[in-house]
Amino acid sequence: MNKERIFDVKNNINNDKKIVNQIYKSNNKKYFITTYGCQLNVHESEKLAGVLEELGFTHTEQMAEAKIIIYNTCAIREGAEDRALGNIGSLKKFKQKNKDVILIVCGCMTQQKENAQKLKNMFPFIDIILGTSNLHEFKSILLNFIKEHKKICNINDDFNLTSENMPLYRTSGENAWVNIMQGCNNFCSYCIVPYVRGRERSRPLKDIIQEIIHIIKENKYKKITLLGQNVNSYGNDLKENEFQEKPTFAKLLKEICSLEGDFKLTFMTSHPKDLTSDVIDVIANNDKMLKEIHLPIQSGSNKILKLMNRNYSVEKYLSIINEIKEKIPNVRLSTDIIVGFPQETDEDFNETLELLKKIKYDNVFAFMYSKRSGTPASIMEGQVDEKIKKIRVNKVLQLVKSLSKK
Ligand code: 5AD
Ligand code: SF4
Repeated sequence: MNKERIFDVKNNINNDKKIVNQIYKSNNKKYFITTYGCQLNVHESEKLAGVLEELGFTHTEQMAEAKIIIYNTCAIREGAEDRALGNIGSLKKFKQKNKDVILIVCGCMTQQKENAQKLKNMFPFIDIILGTSNLHEFKSILLNFIKEHKKICNINDDFNLTSENMPLYRTSGENAWVNIMQGCNNFCSYCIVPYVRGRERSRPLKDIIQEIIHIIKENKYKKITLLGQNVNSYGNDLKENEFQEKPTFAKLLKEICSLEGDFKLTFMTSHPKDLTSDVIDVIANNDKMLKEIHLPIQSGSNKILKLMNRNYSVEKYLSIINEIKEKIPNVRLSTDIIVGFPQETDEDFNETLELLKKIKYDNVFAFMYSKRSGTPASIMEGQVDEKIKKIRVNKVLQLVKSLSKK
């Protein structure tokens, strides 16, 4: 950034702060954020907090004393949506008593226009509704509301506008999250993410490196976690650099590891179809890399993996795990499992249990399949009864517990 631009940015921040101070004459300028869902959402809440801190607001854990309340929602499963709906609904009386409190709902749930509309109708006391695609507009939308008090429901269709330059207020202790890409191209048949986050967009390598150099200089963070829905396809959409080299995930990891500083590096999440040997090699050969990989398998049945559109077989997955275990002897492995996917029989489910026994993960996240409207799996034949899903998820949890005891 050149000097004039820095001056411009500082000037704008001061003007924005002035506007906020004129309106909020009292010292109480506190904000409260509830975040649902994955680490990406946690990190995006850090961006919302960054904007608010820059405007002179301060964080509180007590909702009752906040002047701005934000719900950053998740749409991955029905349960997450229901919890958000329940919590937002319970604010009705609080909002009636505290008319000056600004209530904001954003995230994956509101990115779906029909959901945003539903929220607006159900809870007319919400002041601002934003999607994931217009997070970068948060500051201007908030300032407009503070000035004009007109309710706003603003959902963009264009996912290309980036939130990467938003200020950050990191809240995850010694861990610093760094976004390396947005969106997903995989369209697993059960998953809502490609619809609420758009197609894969990799962040330029030099921007990522710059952010990480800054993090290292701050000297507050021992761990850096790279974030993306499918980090292994990092760079696929980027152009070659001046040396005719295309950035890849392995090159990005190597470049970060070559930076001086006292930090450990890790990432999430990997897709087994894209995890290449060169990435495994970087983890194996670099002291800075944490020896851990989260590699979601989802199911131990080839029939179900095919229906899920995962594009790998159990055999292929096992061969990757073997390579990982050979090259990184003390590796910590974790995975995600979905039980009760449409057409999953007892035999299919038993194959998942057998696979868990074989791989002996250090950590397993097991979920009951949740119908997401608009995804191919939601209209598949052979939907599984909720009771059976519950029995199966409990069996997975029991098995994992008994394996970890051993
Ligand atoms: N139902 C249940 N679990 C899901 N996941 C993604 N979509 C669904 C769904 N519709 C799980 C997958 C993924 C994790 C983040 O959430 O296991 O890896
Ligand atoms: Fe969803 Fe599959 Fe993309 Fe992961 S890889 S975000 S499960 S579509």
